[in-house]
Amino acid sequence: MTDRLTALITGASAGLGKEFARQLAAAGCNLILVARRVDRLQDSAAHFREQFRGVEVLCIEADLSRAEAPEHIYTVVRDHGWQVDYLVNNAGAAGPDFFGHQPWADHLAYLRLMQTSVAELCYRFIPAMVERGFGRVINVSSVSGRMAAANSCHYGPTKTYLIALSEALGLSVRARGVHVTALCPGFTHTDFHATAGLDELKRSTPSLIWYSAGTVVREGLRAVEKGRLVYVSGRLYRWLDPLLQSVWTRWLFLRVD
Ligand SMILES: NC(=O)c1ccc[n+]([C@@H]2O[C@H](COP(=O)([O-])OP(=O)(O)OC[C@H]3O[C@@H](n4cnc5c(N)ncnc54)[C@H](OP(=O)(O)O)[C@@H]3O)[C@@H](O)[C@H]2O)c1
Repeated sequence: MTDRLTALITGASAGLGKEFARQLAAAGCNLILVARRVDRLQDSAAHFREQFRGVEVLCIEADLSRAEAPEHIYTVVRDHGWQVDYLVNNAGAAGPDFFGHQPWADHLAYLRLMQTSVAELCYRFIPAMVERGFGRVINVSSVSGRMAAANSCHYGPTKTYLIALSEALGLSVRARGVHVTALCPGFTHTDFHATAGLDELKRSTPSLIWYSAGTVVREGLRAVEKGRLVYVSGRLYRWLDPLLQSVWTRWLFLRVD
């Protein structure tokens, strides 16, 4: 194991997670890549080893909607003798329709993916960062976590939880050299909408509200370095955010459904 910093990224098989891996490898980090599609992780790992000379990559297959996944990830990392300096809790999906008659077990699995797995990975990895006096944690939230919207009964609220969790954790550990940031992207070009069957949304909305994964990740890495607790990515969304938060204008957005 080299003396490079190491970044653990969940949901690294596509979209923002893959881009986090690319930018962190380019910055000189070793990588721990986590997702269900381990074949994709291994393809990326081979590519990164070739592109960024000296980078070491560990791939871990895990389904974060399963209760045992975070402990499994922690154990694999520990057994390899690696430490985690950057933790990027990025894995996520659109999730089941609250009123769609799926069994409650599906909803619970979704809440594990979006909330409890993030909390548990923070619980398992942040204490060692505090001990070493250095750590960077990015919890990928969303602009959806900054607003209430009809038919977003799980997705938005889970992202609101990540913002609250990141603020509380960040305030608790920032004096010890560990920065925690909730990164809130708006619409971003990734596989997210195709996976959720929302291709039409992409076609029917103006391109200026869509950002590239490269921009979102670059802004997120800069924000965590600066110690920002919450960072809304994209100039348009940063401009909208105060309107979403203000008691004077929030009512306007609550009328949209
Ligand atoms: N794209 C947007 O417009 C947007 C906006 C705001 C916030 N976000 C957030 O950004 C994050 C990344 O999403 P993305 O846009 O990059 O979407 P994406 O391209 O669909 O990537 C999602 C990633 O999450 C992983 N994932 C999904 N379910 C998982 C599970 N059960 N266990 C482990 N990994 C799982 C996927 O890997 P496997 O399928 O291989 O497991 C994949 O690597 C999410 O948290 C999303 O909510 C996205």
